[in-house]
Amino acid sequence: MGCCRRALRHALAGLLLALLSPGSSAADFGHLPDNITVLEGESVVLRCKIDEEVTHKAWLNRSNILFTGRDKWSLDKRVSLINSNTSHFSIQIDQVQVADEGPYTCTFQANNKPRIAHVYLIVQVPARIVNISRDVSVNEGDNVNLFCLAVGRPEPTVTWKDQKYGLVSEGEFLDITEIRRQQGEDFECITNNGVAPPDTRKVKVTVNYAPSITDVKNMPAQLGKMAVLRCEAMAVPTAAFEWYRDERRPVEGDSTLRIKNEKTRSLLLFNNVTEKHFGNYTCLAYNRLGASNASMLLFRPGAVYGRGTGHHVGVFSAGVAVMISFSVSLLSM
Ligand SMILES: *[C@@H]1O[C@H](CO)[C@@H](O)[C@H](O)[C@H]1NC(C)=O
Ligand SMILES: *[C@@H]1O[C@H](CO)[C@@H](O)[C@H](O)[C@H]1NC(C)=O
Ligand SMILES: *[C@@H]1O[C@H](CO)[C@@H](O)[C@H](O)[C@H]1NC(C)=O
Ligand SMILES: *[C@@H]1O[C@H](CO)[C@@H](O)[C@H](O)[C@H]1NC(C)=O
Ligand SMILES: *[C@@H]1O[C@H](CO)[C@@H](O)[C@H](O)[C@H]1NC(C)=O
Ligand SMILES: *[C@@H]1O[C@H](CO)[C@@H](O)[C@H](O)[C@H]1NC(C)=O
Ligand SMILES: *[C@@H]1O[C@H](CO)[C@@H](O)[C@H](O)[C@H]1NC(C)=O
Repeated sequence: MGCCRRALRHALAGLLLALLSPGSSAADFGHLPDNITVLEGESVVLRCKIDEEVTHKAWLNRSNILFTGRDKWSLDKRVSLINSNTSHFSIQIDQVQVADEGPYTCTFQANNKPRIAHVYLIVQVPARIVNISRDVSVNEGDNVNLFCLAVGRPEPTVTWKDQKYGLVSEGEFLDITEIRRQQGEDFECITNNGVAPPDTRKVKVTVNYAPSITDVKNMPAQLGKMAVLRCEAMAVPTAAFEWYRDERRPVEGDSTLRIKNEKTRSLLLFNNVTEKHFGNYTCLAYNRLGASNASMLLFRPGAVYGRGTGHHVGVFSAGVAVMISFSVSLLSM
């Protein structure tokens, strides 16, 4: 019994392969779409509408028989027959894999004539980022090379977008030569193949640089009142600050003087200005990449004063400031 059934199968397979071989006289049967598109992991039904009085029918994956009539040849559990009557012959493939992509054939005999219908199964996979550079921390002037590897079917596009300026660069690799501090930001990798919403991920690029003091002002102060000297510095990592009096001498913390450090600036607070407080102060900002300093004056009001810039760019001497303010106070008496 088993032997005969096998023999029959072989004979039938021979017939079907003959039908499929090039040059076959079998006409294409037009009831199927040319392509069926399915997402990886989903199920797909391959339908074949057939004439009546069909004597033999089969579904093939390439040249492998999946079903002949209700008889399953495929050992694949994912393949099942969902309909077989005189007008329909349909199979279902569950959990479609990329390997399932390819030509499928419904073939049958009706009125002693062979018929064939082809369908091409296209398996799509949403674009997905599979590996991407870690966040990086570099020094200004270094070269930075980022990568973003993506998979998907059809082949996805990969673009890099810089979050701050919106500039876009095509391709998996983003190379930045001699990075500048303004380029320290988030870079976003976007991959898309139109199958599902794009997949995106961000890489944070930190650009470290030595402090540069941005804002320094000579400040007027009145005896017995409060006064503040400010020192603002741009730096990554954020700067630490120190204050000096007349070049070298660190300012002493006493009850009338206080240093208040904030994220990007340092304040030198005088609670109660006395004569000895007037003078020249130097703010030093430093991090592991370097240091920068700037000097400024705490002077008596009424004096015409300039603006402190950069390191040791003195505007005028403390003595002059005192003299001017002295004469102004004489006038105002
Ligand atoms: C079927 O897919 C192939 C390859 O993807 C394509 O060249 C062809 O135009 C498609 N046919 C139809 C009818 O969509
Ligand atoms: C065959 O099955 C299909 C789907 O279930 C149904 O629509 C159709 O009427 C059936 N044909 C016959 C002849 O029973
Ligand atoms: C179709 O044939 C390919 C190649 O032989 C195989 O990898 C795949 O698993 C088959 N798929 C089905 C649903 O039979
Ligand atoms: C990602 O790429 C890096 C660098 O090429 C490699 O060292 C790492 O093993 C990769 N990670 C994964 C999950 O493939
Ligand atoms: C400021 O200091 C002077 C001299 O030490 C003192 O007389 C005065 O009361 C102080 N003023 C305040 C507001 O603390
Ligand atoms: C301030 O900077 C100058 C120039 O770099 C340097 O010579 C000087 O020693 C610095 N002063 C302090 C207090 O660090
Ligand atoms: C303040 O001190 C700095 C550093 O010692 C010096 O370069 C600058 O000339 C001084 N400014 C004034 C107005 O004296």
